[in-house]
Amino acid sequence: MSEFNQSRRRFLTQSGVGLVTLTTLPRLADAMESMRMGGGMGMGMHSGSGEIAYPKITPNKANPAFHPDVELDLVCKPTEIPILKGAPTRVLRYQATLIKGPAGTVVDIPHSYLGSIIRLQKGQKVRVNFHNGLSQASVVHWHGLHVPQMMDGHPQYAIDSGETWVYEFEVINRANMNIYHPHPHGATAKQVYLGLAGALIVNDEEEAALELPSGEYEIPFVIQDKQFDSENQLTYAPSMHQRMAGMTGEKILVNGQANFHLDVASRAYRLRVMNGSTSRIYKLAWDDGMPMTVIGVDGGLLEQPETRPYVMLAPGERLDVWADFSGRNEGTQLALKSLAFSGVLPKMGMNHGGLAVGSEYPICTIKVTRKVSDSHKLPTHLSKMPRYRIDETANPNNPLPIGISESPMSMLLNGRAYEFNNPLPTERVKKGSVQLLEIFHAHGEMNQRGGGMGAMGGMSMSMAHPIHLHGQQFEIMSRSISGDTSDYDTVSDGFIDSGLKDTVLVMPMERVKIIKPFHDFKGLFLYHCHNLEHEDMGMMREFSVE
Ligand code: C2O
Ligand code: CU
Ligand code: CU
Repeated sequence: MSEFNQSRRRFLTQSGVGLVTLTTLPRLADAMESMRMGGGMGMGMHSGSGEIAYPKITPNKANPAFHPDVELDLVCKPTEIPILKGAPTRVLRYQATLIKGPAGTVVDIPHSYLGSIIRLQKGQKVRVNFHNGLSQASVVHWHGLHVPQMMDGHPQYAIDSGETWVYEFEVINRANMNIYHPHPHGATAKQVYLGLAGALIVNDEEEAALELPSGEYEIPFVIQDKQFDSENQLTYAPSMHQRMAGMTGEKILVNGQANFHLDVASRAYRLRVMNGSTSRIYKLAWDDGMPMTVIGVDGGLLEQPETRPYVMLAPGERLDVWADFSGRNEGTQLALKSLAFSGVLPKMGMNHGGLAVGSEYPICTIKVTRKVSDSHKLPTHLSKMPRYRIDETANPNNPLPIGISESPMSMLLNGRAYEFNNPLPTERVKKGSVQLLEIFHAHGEMNQRGGGMGAMGGMSMSMAHPIHLHGQQFEIMSRSISGDTSDYDTVSDGFIDSGLKDTVLVMPMERVKIIKPFHDFKGLFLYHCHNLEHEDMGMMREFSVE
């Protein structure tokens, strides 16, 4: 609130034109939006990038020469599930059925719209018969898995209603948690929002040797926010406003459940946390002063645990959290909260009321209901991580750019909206190479935050973007921030940059350098903002690995 007033005051003293923009722009955008929507549901509609013409495909069939260790059927279809008191909610859901493979490969989360949990071993050959039971096109992306481009869920391979696509790949990832979710261009956010997402966990021997908490002591923890209408239904029809800032809901769900509560024993647990929201960013902390202990991120276990007062979690990111309740008495209660922070949304008064992004609210409550004397001990060393030095990259002095630009009507990367198979020179990389990349905000002074020097100082469209790259996991080498850091200081202790990542939250005014290997597979691999509203607006590009 005060932040808004402040930036508005600065704005008024420094610019006369700006006032017009500030007050009329969002209304103009909403007006345009209602024209476009034409009263319909906006199914599959997207702005910014236009229609993409993909070549006609024939759905991939099983390869008789591929001998799977694990085979499953995966269906996505509409169903109904009780979430709130009263009427059940219509959702879309992934349902997996194990055809071949070890028991425990497919586990359903009871009473949840979330997809079955798929648990794989490194080295397994996997076949997934994906059947599209929706009334619109879809495709499955295994976010975090390094697989051939035909198996990666590129939107060019979206299949129509009633069709089946057979995925076949070998699990070459180290142990980590991944997300499977739809990726049809222009409709990803909607399909995810209506329920399509699931966890895919990879295990390996390095992880097994640690004997981390498992079974009932290893808990999947998928955080999402949704907006229910008075009939308990979800509607996905974001205004232009909500496309820019991201669609958010007033209800926080964990594993598909509202008011999530855990009864625990007084011992250590492993929480496999994932942000499955379309755009909401969380600042996770325990409310009783216990620090957050993190043992892994997107790409698996860290080398050693990290302890922080709070941890940031942007859409698409995962955290492996060591939650140790030992020593607590029976009846002890605590909560996992999202704490207050600022600076991730445009400073244009976009953050109206309710459960605002950056306000403080609970995520789940926990009660110790069982006192036990034994517990797992936190290992001091967790894993050996494959690492590269900058001088081992193909381009140590010449990072490949990922330039972010934002405007009310278009969210771009490297100055371009999404195009199919039309890479810029800097989007073509040699297979087998290791590249240095730099993610930064590409817009000019006018659009920058906090400087106060330009005529438009104080007004800013600049916001945080969780940038995700398909394919192999990357390392975060450095972050640098210019200008006023007062907003940045509310989040910066919560970045876990020591592990392998596939998604990184880039704050306004921030530059992030990463090293990413492009090994094993040729083809088109997407990179995009994992604010799914932005992705659908065209804030997505491709690397052509050649
Ligand atoms: Cu989780 Cu290309 O996305
Ligand atoms: Cu991905
Ligand atoms: Cu974005």
